[in-house]
Amino acid sequence: MSTPANPILTSAFMRAVRGEPVPHTPVWFMRQAGRSLPEYRKLREGVGMLESCMDPDLVTEITLQPVRRYGVDAAIFFSDIVLPLKAVGVDLDIKPGVGPVVATPVRTLDDVAAIPDLTPEHVPFITQAIGQLVAELGSTPLIGFAGAPFTVASYLVEGGPSREHALTKAMMFGAPEVWDALMRKIAGVAAAYLEVQVAAGASAVQLFDSWAGALTPRDYATHVQPHSTAVLARAGALGVPRIHFGVNTANLLGLMGEAGGDVVGVDWRTPLDVAIGQVGDRAVQGNLDPTLVFAPTEVMTARAAEIIEAGRAARGHVFNLGHGVLPSTDPDQLQRLTEFVQSYPL
Ligand code: CP3
Repeated sequence: MSTPANPILTSAFMRAVRGEPVPHTPVWFMRQAGRSLPEYRKLREGVGMLESCMDPDLVTEITLQPVRRYGVDAAIFFSDIVLPLKAVGVDLDIKPGVGPVVATPVRTLDDVAAIPDLTPEHVPFITQAIGQLVAELGSTPLIGFAGAPFTVASYLVEGGPSREHALTKAMMFGAPEVWDALMRKIAGVAAAYLEVQVAAGASAVQLFDSWAGALTPRDYATHVQPHSTAVLARAGALGVPRIHFGVNTANLLGLMGEAGGDVVGVDWRTPLDVAIGQVGDRAVQGNLDPTLVFAPTEVMTARAAEIIEAGRAARGHVFNLGHGVLPSTDPDQLQRLTEFVQSYPL
């Protein structure tokens, strides 16, 4: 008797990331779960961001909201890149309209040593939420995620969001032994966090290196890439596809591909055909400018069509925005975009 094919493994998303033929271009949106949805804002009333991330029922519901509404080809787990640090005991919060804020920024080897390694016992609510989600999602794959070492280090060293990442880069250039210890620590936490998510049922993972674009290729290659490679290698041992995404990475796409993911996420500033030429034999994800949802629908869909056409040259293509959904996005416009991408003839 033959076993029926696993509907997640044969989904359009999983086929595209493996470079196999697809029935349609799969589509999901970074930050699809969150502030652009009225049903999300209602659920979050009076509940802090980190508090909501630690409540399995809220996480399940918020993750499912965009899947129900848009019928996207993948769900992204509702959490945050700083959640695993919070879980191991780092004193931090996510301030509305600001982002992650760390009470005592990390500056010394002792500060690094004080951050515990992550074990599954730190995040039982993640295991529970993913178990619930996988049961509800059926054939829709769930993407787990972690913050990449550089982007997470920036929050820990600066103590909050930063435009220039000056303190972070000062440590990178001026205190290499502290930097190395910090990057190893965060890489270990990120990899362990991804392992928990995959063990609980996530079908793919994304490593977010949102602020890597602040680096020159040389500094990325020397001080950052080895640590992202370490995370991606540990995730690779789990047998799930890995997406590696950053913003402002036109100069870094080749190096980000070399770091070892199966898919390189491309922000909207780099034309997709140019990006495809840089990432080697890998699938790509992206890359509609998130502000195009504010344009007339036919302007938005014309740009989406160009991206789908460009994506044909890649080993595989997952349609996405070039960064997260902006909070003021009209959900109906994302609905139309989803339908357009999924019905676009290949
Ligand atoms: O739908 C999804 O994509 C899943 C949820 C998700 C969140 N954060 C929820 C969130 C994901 C994947 C993230 C990742 C994340 N968090 C990144 C990498 C992705 C990217 O956008 O580049 C980064 C850099 C962070 C750090 C962070 N957390 C920022 C910059 C902010 C925004 C600050 C603000 O309020 O403008 C957050 C808070 C955050 N994370 C919110 C959500 C839904 C908003 C908090 C709220 O709703 O009150």
